[in-house]
Amino acid sequence: MNIILFGATGHLGKAIATEAVKRGYAVTAVVRNAAKENALKQTISCNTIVADVTDASSLVNICKGFDVVISALGKSVSINDNSKPGFMDIDLTANTTILTEAVKAGVKKFIYISACHAERYPQLTYFHAHQQFAERLIRTDLDYAIIKPPALFSAFLDLIDLAKKGRLVHIGKGDKLTNPVDEADVAIACINAIHENKSNIEIGGPEILSRKQINEMIQEAVNPGKKIRTIPLGMVKGMLPLVKLINRNLFDKMAFFVEVIQHDTIAPRLGQMQLKEYLERKLSV
Ligand SMILES: NC(=O)c1ccc[n+]([C@@H]2O[C@H](COP(=O)([O-])OP(=O)(O)OC[C@H]3O[C@@H](n4cnc5c(N)ncnc54)[C@H](OP(=O)(O)O)[C@@H]3O)[C@@H](O)[C@H]2O)c1
Repeated sequence: MNIILFGATGHLGKAIATEAVKRGYAVTAVVRNAAKENALKQTISCNTIVADVTDASSLVNICKGFDVVISALGKSVSINDNSKPGFMDIDLTANTTILTEAVKAGVKKFIYISACHAERYPQLTYFHAHQQFAERLIRTDLDYAIIKPPALFSAFLDLIDLAKKGRLVHIGKGDKLTNPVDEADVAIACINAIHENKSNIEIGGPEILSRKQINEMIQEAVNPGKKIRTIPLGMVKGMLPLVKLINRNLFDKMAFFVEVIQHDTIAPRLGQMQLKEYLERKLSV
């Protein structure tokens, strides 16, 4: 089985590539430039194609000869990402170009990484883009699987940096629950999906935690004893209209974040790795 993987240089993409290679699949990773290609090849034994996913002409016939397409391609939600394309450009438009190529090439399966509860928040660009793409995928005749994790553990790497600088804050009560999941666990589900008949796979981690507990676990791992300040949710919400005027991408990320912390996001507890163990591993390297 020949896999072509988009988003292979991302947190989840790397885990998917690692898992696929470990299980004997031939993996071709699509990367955006030579520097990314070299870095990926240092750690994972895969073939690579350099292409610009924002330019449809660069993707013509890209899926030809592959059995399986996996897309973990998506605009980063990290506060450190300042790239120009927005969620609609990458998560919807670029993935749709890939889908068109996959249909043309007659691939056997298309596996897409969406997000848990994407269908619940059509007003938010992040979820809207994921859900729109999922619906386009469903409308094709391709065999597909849509993987829907809540937060990946890697999403908390920004919080580790903030905790190190003493800038980690609780926003509002922080009482809403979620079960974040290790990207390696999601990668296993993703590769299992190649031969399964399940088309929608929600996968969360083993522990259900409140947002406050997650912050405290991170602060404890990085700098024990440091007290975390609380910012009122209303204050952050109040900043959104101004941010929207100044920086649309930042607004879309903040609006996403502000919304998810107001709701429980719990997926079936299929992952194995615990957050505490993940943090210890990350902080030891
Ligand atoms: N993080 C989470 O907690 C979470 C939770 C649920 C669902 N998801 C979804 O899962 C998918 C993967 O997430 P992730 O955390 O692994 O994301 P990530 O680490 O930000 O990786 C995203 C991947 O997409 C590529 N990409 C983004 N913008 C690009 C552009 N303009 N041109 C070319 N490549 C571009 C990145 O390439 P570069 O390495 O070159 O930047 C990277 O390979 C996304 O769709 C995300 O929304 C994530």
